Amino acid sequence: MNTKATTKNYHDQIKEHWDEQGKVGWKKDEGIDPFFNQFYSEYKQQLGHEVLDVGCGNGRYMVPFVRDGFSVTGLDISQGMLNSAERALTEQNLKARYVIGNSVSLPFENQSFDFVMSIGTIHHNTMDDIKKSFSEIERVLKPKKYFLFMGRSVSDKEFEREVIEDYRDLGLGFTAIDKTGWKKGLVQHYFNGKELQQLGEQNGFEVIIEPHEQIRVTKKGQDEIQTSRIWIVYRKV
Ligand SMILES: C[S@@+](CC[C@H](N)C(=O)[O-])C[C@H]1O[C@@H](n2cnc3c(N)ncnc32)[C@H](O)[C@@H]1O
Repeated sequence: MNTKATTKNYHDQIKEHWDEQGKVGWKKDEGIDPFFNQFYSEYKQQLGHEVLDVGCGNGRYMVPFVRDGFSVTGLDISQGMLNSAERALTEQNLKARYVIGNSVSLPFENQSFDFVMSIGTIHHNTMDDIKKSFSEIERVLKPKKYFLFMGRSVSDKEFEREVIEDYRDLGLGFTAIDKTGWKKGLVQHYFNGKELQQLGEQNGFEVIIEPHEQIRVTKKGQDEIQTSRIWIVYRKV
């Protein structure tokens, strides 16, 4: 395993990046993912009432829950993204709670939620902070309740990057800083299924839906770009 020193204030950089994205309407018109839709239609009745979205972004995954009468809290490190979530839901006459915070230290009581989702968020952390985030989610979730996760996958080839923490010799993923593109300079972790299974086991979760990798190939000029994401659903033991 190799690690390089990470920029100390990388969470500030992430916050600034997403504050800017909040201003330009990141994925404002993008719908929600088919994996989520299938999960939601199958598990909706078993999820309970109090829902937390860790890294809610523009709130698009909060919408179905609020529409269906769940009590929903969106948490985000970026006030800009929280504002864009609140604007989007208010335009649709939907009410939710919006809380500023960091996944590594959630500002909630133990066992205060029935369902937690974190979609495209926890990968914006180094491994130490990913572990803290999993432990925090376990803490705020009630026993036997579900946690849905999505993050970047090791097979992602969107942009050139420099690896700063390498766990591949252990059969796991790596943390890197993008060298080009819209996330240039940002820390992101790239997961594989084994790593997500381990993180679950080490933090008091059992796997309910096995890791599911989603690969998209798009053309950009002459180049083919591969974006890969990985989904998993856990239940607190
Ligand atoms: C790729 S967006 C995903 C937003 C939303 N979950 C979705 O899928 O539409 C990532 C979001 O996570 C937030 N974020 C990044 N790191 C975070 C952290 N450590 N704690 C809380 N939010 C974080 C960002 O501000 C941003 O809104």
